Amino acid sequence: MLKHLLSAAALSALVAGPAFAGPAAPANAPELQSIVPAHVLVNADRRASQNLSGPWHYSVDPYRDGQADFMGRPVNPRHARGSDTNVEKTSKENPNALFEYDLRRAPEAQIPSSWIGHSAEMRYYNGLVWYQKSFDRQPKQAGKRVFLRFGAVDYKATIYLNGQMIGQHEGGFTPFAFDVTDTLRDKDNNLVVAVDSVRSADTVPPTVTDWETYGGILRDVLLVETPETWIDDSFVRYTKDGRILADIAIDGPGKANQTVEVAVEGLNLTLKGTTDAQGHVALSAKAPRGLKLWSPETPTLYNVTIKAGADALKDRIGFRTIEVKGTQIVLNGKPVFLRGISLHEEEFGLNPARIITPEASRALLSEIKYGLNGNYVRLSHYPHSEVTTRMADEMGLLVWSEIPVYWTVNFARPETLMVARKMQAENILRDRNRASVIIWSVGNETPINETRTAFLKRLADDTRALDGTRLASAALMTEREIIDGHIDMKIEDPLVASLDVMAINTYNGWYGNDKIEDVPATQWHSHWNKPLILSEFGADAQFGFHDEAAKPRFSEEYQALYYTNTLAMADKIPFLSGLSPWILKDFRSPRRQHIYQKGWNRKGVVSETGQRKMAFKVLSDYFAGKAETTK
Ligand code: GCU
Repeated sequence: MLKHLLSAAALSALVAGPAFAGPAAPANAPELQSIVPAHVLVNADRRASQNLSGPWHYSVDPYRDGQADFMGRPVNPRHARGSDTNVEKTSKENPNALFEYDLRRAPEAQIPSSWIGHSAEMRYYNGLVWYQKSFDRQPKQAGKRVFLRFGAVDYKATIYLNGQMIGQHEGGFTPFAFDVTDTLRDKDNNLVVAVDSVRSADTVPPTVTDWETYGGILRDVLLVETPETWIDDSFVRYTKDGRILADIAIDGPGKANQTVEVAVEGLNLTLKGTTDAQGHVALSAKAPRGLKLWSPETPTLYNVTIKAGADALKDRIGFRTIEVKGTQIVLNGKPVFLRGISLHEEEFGLNPARIITPEASRALLSEIKYGLNGNYVRLSHYPHSEVTTRMADEMGLLVWSEIPVYWTVNFARPETLMVARKMQAENILRDRNRASVIIWSVGNETPINETRTAFLKRLADDTRALDGTRLASAALMTEREIIDGHIDMKIEDPLVASLDVMAINTYNGWYGNDKIEDVPATQWHSHWNKPLILSEFGADAQFGFHDEAAKPRFSEEYQALYYTNTLAMADKIPFLSGLSPWILKDFRSPRRQHIYQKGWNRKGVVSETGQRKMAFKVLSDYFAGKAETTK
């Protein structure tokens, strides 16, 4: 029986697959069990926990001596970084002992953060780094379980606790957890994390991406304490027929026939039920008349408390509906135009290290909501921190959430598909209680062929099965040609049949040799009765580089003209429902080494330190006008 929560609608979608032409899994969806994590620990970031953020030791290991002997023999104790050996102590006790590492006395850095910011020597390191943290556990309580939960480790993590390898995780942007109840000790726990940032043709994403590799422990590391039987997964939402649904999964020895209560504060609403043998219960009630729907204009969140046995989980949840009707995206029954922009996960500043605090996240999202008059953000090209999706809930921004199935993924490799499927499941199970998230994307600019389309259809089907309430999309590429002197764009990608929303990245006037003055006359054609988002368009500009007369590439004037002309083109697309130009802020990319780039992709409408370029006002004014006309 499937361990995780699939709503009945989602299961029927899997079986009937009305929205997907791809192979629909049978109702019992056995292969979904292979992609959902053993422990979801939904809402873990808000549970009582011991936060292990702070100083950690780190030590490089470019030849991976700590994982395998260079002759292929088992790890040599001299290099066994994952062991529980206290090198200093052992060396004092046994002068003949020889070690060629010592994590406990290695340099320290503040975690979470990418090692790119640890020191000048680490700026360009791409390989294996060992992290170590010693800690005493909070007083052990009888009948409690303890999970070690990582918000994200990029790219592959191997975790050792007190000399025991407790697990591995692949994928740089989604959470994972291990039950350490029986491995923890009261004093001097020795937590060692091997982080390997190296990607390959088989990873997700593959080696080449247009963004910097930020290896490291990027988000909080928590020791999460729960009762012996705990609430592992919950999905609480509002439906188009005016009901509040709550699917709850509890785990542990007392999961069956357990009474579950879901109370929505301020609505005088409590849903009650009893779990089945698998620990699941699906609750439903008519929404009270006083329910205030969540929207960017009114981001109302309710305090929701879920109780089951000795466990209680508190979350802040917004209730809204999202759907497509023909070529429109419809929020709470009204068409909405997505006024947004794309965003990489880098804080403002000259040396970002993916340190996404609430303040850093609020600064970025405020530029979109208040600076650009936006109501939407594309969190590209990977799942961003839960700090940001919670911030979008609080501030009122609609969100496109994406896994890094980017460019030339090895679509023919079954193991690569499993990595992508697990990543999408981890992303959805982490954020499907976030009202701000309306779109799950399964890929970006992937070359069209049968193998790739089957790969992405599988991801789209999983998406529907895990969350039938949101929209599936992907950033695609298009056919183009010159017809009667104008640029002619056709959306022919067969993957569209499996999506709810089409999204196209288009760079006419920047890449290729179109003249910028020819862009407004571009014509777009679609035979799909589906909404279109222009998920990317943009041009590089070095902040402060001006040339009003010549308007050369990389000047602010060219970027502003590019935006003016591309927005004029967008205005003529009748099936357009949203924009997320590329990109809010200049971001690091090793592929960009022009004298105006120096390792940064400069398509931001603001510089890496937040300086607004001329194009910022072009877009901000456009969105202000759009907000008026689409009220
Ligand atoms: C591509 C890609 C982005 C990239 C951008 C660019 O469409 O999706 O990741 O940064 O274009 O070329 O700047």
